[in-house]
Amino acid sequence: MTTVALIPAAGSGTRLGAGMPKAFVDLGGRTILERSVDGVFAAGVDEVVVAVPAELLDATRSMLPRVHVVIGGSVRSDSVRACLAEVGPSASDVVLIHDAARALTPPEVFTRVIDAVSQGSDVVVPAVPVTDTLKRVVTQQSGAVETVVATVDRTPLRAVQTPQGFRPEALRRAHAAAGDATDDAGLAEAAGYAVHVVPGDLMAFKITTAWDLRIARMLLESTGV
Ligand code: C5P
Repeated sequence: MTTVALIPAAGSGTRLGAGMPKAFVDLGGRTILERSVDGVFAAGVDEVVVAVPAELLDATRSMLPRVHVVIGGSVRSDSVRACLAEVGPSASDVVLIHDAARALTPPEVFTRVIDAVSQGSDVVVPAVPVTDTLKRVVTQQSGAVETVVATVDRTPLRAVQTPQGFRPEALRRAHAAAGDATDDAGLAEAAGYAVHVVPGDLMAFKITTAWDLRIARMLLESTGV
């Protein structure tokens, strides 16, 4: 069973506000991207492709000699398709797509996803239950005021993480149309595939804001990873 991992890392990092693309921000002496790539290899993945902003192509190739590095696109799905074009989806038995921003994902999450695809699922996502109360709102007065219109039952809701796992054919079909989605399983779902869920892990959270980065740094300090 061979596994390839595609890592979109071409986001601008605007919400993080670090003044540089998010994947290249320092996280305990290594970049967020290096930590994500380390995690992928530690999980036994055979081959890795990373998509980065054009201006960081050469620097990333020097930083990560074991991985293929390509130029990402203007939206996440374009970055994934750039990775796919580099390897071709049928180059392995399992294809994982993993956000660079989920730098602290434990190896067990990778194992659960790979195992589920190996056992016959076309598309697999790791997910965790939602803990906050969720409300649907409408925005009035030019965005100044929000009013609740419904309280949503959170029982059947899940917050979905990465790595997401695919049989190569399912991923190829999911990306056959040039759509964009916040995750690749969403494209597969739209293409008619059943998406199976395995337990995720709170450590697989996505580093998006300055708050997330602070938490990630504290976790690294406290666990000594
Ligand atoms: O923006 P968001 O945090 O949802 O991005 C998720 C992942 O997709 C990040 O690792 C980011 O670097 C990547 N991305 C990308 N190309 C884009 C936008 C986001 O590779 N154009």
